[in-house]
Amino acid sequence: MSTPNIAKLNDYELLDSGHLKKYERFGSVQVVRTEPLALWVPEDEAAWDPDVIYTQDGREGTWKIKRDLPNPWTLSWNKLTFRLRLASFKHVGLFPEQAVNWEYLGRELPRGASLLNLFGYTGAASIVVAQHGIEVVHVDASKPAITAGKENQKLSRLETASIRWIVDDAMTFVKREARRAHLYDAILMDPPAFGRGPDGELWQFETDLVPLLRACQAILAPRGLLLVNAYALGFPAVAIEQAVRCVFPNASRIESIELLLRESSRRGFLLPAGVTVRARL
Ligand SMILES: C[S@@+](CC[C@H](N)C(=O)[O-])C[C@H]1O[C@@H](n2cnc3c(N)ncnc32)[C@H](O)[C@@H]1O
Repeated sequence: MSTPNIAKLNDYELLDSGHLKKYERFGSVQVVRTEPLALWVPEDEAAWDPDVIYTQDGREGTWKIKRDLPNPWTLSWNKLTFRLRLASFKHVGLFPEQAVNWEYLGRELPRGASLLNLFGYTGAASIVVAQHGIEVVHVDASKPAITAGKENQKLSRLETASIRWIVDDAMTFVKREARRAHLYDAILMDPPAFGRGPDGELWQFETDLVPLLRACQAILAPRGLLLVNAYALGFPAVAIEQAVRCVFPNASRIESIELLLRESSRRGFLLPAGVTVRARL
């Protein structure tokens, strides 16, 4: 039986995991990456045959390419296409565990609703949601991430869908929208542990989450929907949920989910991949 917090993508598989690594397939490419939560033993590490391997030595990470990658390297999800690439911090341009949130937003938001996607990276959430007729404003500090997002919109043949791609610091953008009294029906945020805005603005999850949530109060419509995703620091759901609860004490509903990936191996082990708190005002 499928559980709503376990992502399912036809073109992605978590093949196996363990020994602090995960072995995955993104489209036609098999990838091994470090994974600090994979405390267990793999089902069959001897059978792993990756095209690329990401290893980490202290803070330094390196990709080792064993076989040439397709160019472009793409992954499809339903009718959408995303381009993948080997990026810093072991990223490949897509976070498959987020698919449950993309689907949730698509279900919850009516056509014509507005979504602000903060720290939106290469745009998977924005593109999935925009295909349902939702008007998306996508904000990320990284110009290359925004360029990749626009390319993904094109590859997915959704050029006419309403997505405004904005290079900005998340906090600065939210405060500016508050001054303009611009309201959103939903806000999604997936902040990293640490980041910099385009003008060097510092983002630090532990100290900046509550101030950002407070700033969002001014731009979330009555009965609006807020999704806060947290992966980087391995916080338990209750920590994020209580941060949301203290800023939005009158929310009509707050729920937390643990995002999981399931191995396609015989044993089907689960790999935790962060938490999402969903609050309805
Ligand atoms: C964890 S990724 C988000 C993943 C994305 N939600 C997804 O599922 O594809 C974090 C993103 O935050 C961006 N970022 C870091 N600091 C930022 C800041 N101060 N303002 C806006 N974006 C920032 C990074 O460029 C990166 O793309």
